[in-house]
Amino acid sequence: MTPILPGATIGFLGGGQLGRMTAFAARAMGYDIHVLDPDAACASRAVASRTITAGFNDVAAAVELARGCDVVTLEIEQIHPDVLDAVAAETALRPGRAPVYIIQDRIRQKQWLQQQGFPLGAFAAATTAQEVEDAVRAHGACIAKSTHGGYDGRGQVRLREPEQAAGAWEALGGRPCLVEQMVSIDYEISVLVARRPGGEMAVYPPSRNHHTGGILTWAVIPAVIPDAMTTQAQAMAAAIAERIGIVGLLAVECFVTTDGALLVNELAPRPHNTYHHSERGLATSQFEQLVRAVCDLPLGSTAVHAPSAIVNLLGEVWLQPHAPHITHALEVPGTRLHLYGKAGARAGRKMGHLSSVGDDAQQALGRVLESYRRLSPGTIASFDVHEPVLHSTI
Ligand SMILES: Nc1ncnc2c1ncn2[C@@H]1O[C@H](COP(=O)(O)OP(=O)(O)OP(=O)(O)O)[C@@H](O)[C@H]1O
Ligand SMILES: [Mg+2]
Repeated sequence: MTPILPGATIGFLGGGQLGRMTAFAARAMGYDIHVLDPDAACASRAVASRTITAGFNDVAAAVELARGCDVVTLEIEQIHPDVLDAVAAETALRPGRAPVYIIQDRIRQKQWLQQQGFPLGAFAAATTAQEVEDAVRAHGACIAKSTHGGYDGRGQVRLREPEQAAGAWEALGGRPCLVEQMVSIDYEISVLVARRPGGEMAVYPPSRNHHTGGILTWAVIPAVIPDAMTTQAQAMAAAIAERIGIVGLLAVECFVTTDGALLVNELAPRPHNTYHHSERGLATSQFEQLVRAVCDLPLGSTAVHAPSAIVNLLGEVWLQPHAPHITHALEVPGTRLHLYGKAGARAGRKMGHLSSVGDDAQQALGRVLESYRRLSPGTIASFDVHEPVLHSTI
């Protein structure tokens, strides 16, 4: 296969922060960037030489994008399959239709993982309110998740009692949904895998992640977990990437249960929020790695050069009576501010993140959380940014 060399143009389906940060990395390597996004003011616009404003179901617009690009990748999985087909008919689409099609529907994704024998929590695919109720009777406390379009905990309803099924069904729009048993989580990790067209892979060390109300709060690397868990999680993520045939990046979100079992939560065929620290602490950022993978260049090292951590900045930070204390936050050693250039802060909207490096994971995490508390004292109560003691049981 011929590599796609600098000077070529990379197209992005999706112009959010993931595309923007990948575009920065691609620009640094000498590539040109074209973007398709429904929002004319999307985060990638500032980095792209061409932005097409169109929906992710607009075949004609996608063909237009593809015609101007040597390769097209994506930063969001909710792309209509007809659009994926149309792009693939014009130019290289990486990742290809098959993995994206499996991943973009939560039920299809879970069933595929199950068929392939990967470890999962109990779940049911519900097509009626009655089936949601049956699932709660069978499994106890559950989370019902819409099949498409959910992210950052949106499109999810938590249920404790079977009587809540009708309400949950309504809240999710009366459409088929995935009902998952509430897993008793000890901690959450993710593993990122990069894969080239010929099958060469690079597997990242696991990131340890903390969520508040279904939204990622912080992520830190190294994960400070038992070595055996690292080995197991990396082998599983590599096997999933190979089996699903991804080209580009695959993030595997995992739960480690209070019984010590490793379960897959979900997959993402693109850069992932839990690896934003890769830009600070790892030899190759996830964004550069995506460019290398889809352009069929040698993959970069995934070695940890410095323990690093991030904390997300949601719209709430800008909705306080006082503006964020940016100068005070940046006084914390090793800390950097990343903003996505989004106008219009809304509650729960990801506007940016803080990152820190440190001598070890605890220090990196401590620094980034301290920086957050300085930046936005008014949001500490609603966003869990107190510093935990990271420890591995083995
Ligand atoms: N079955 C479950 N049991 C326990 N906790 C869960 C379960 N499913 C989800 N959660 C919690 O909610 C978080 C978000 O869930 P999930 O990953 O399904 O949502 P999402 O909307 O895709 O989020 P994101 O886009 O941030 O990854 C998980 O990381 C976990 O903390
Ligand atoms: Mg998730």
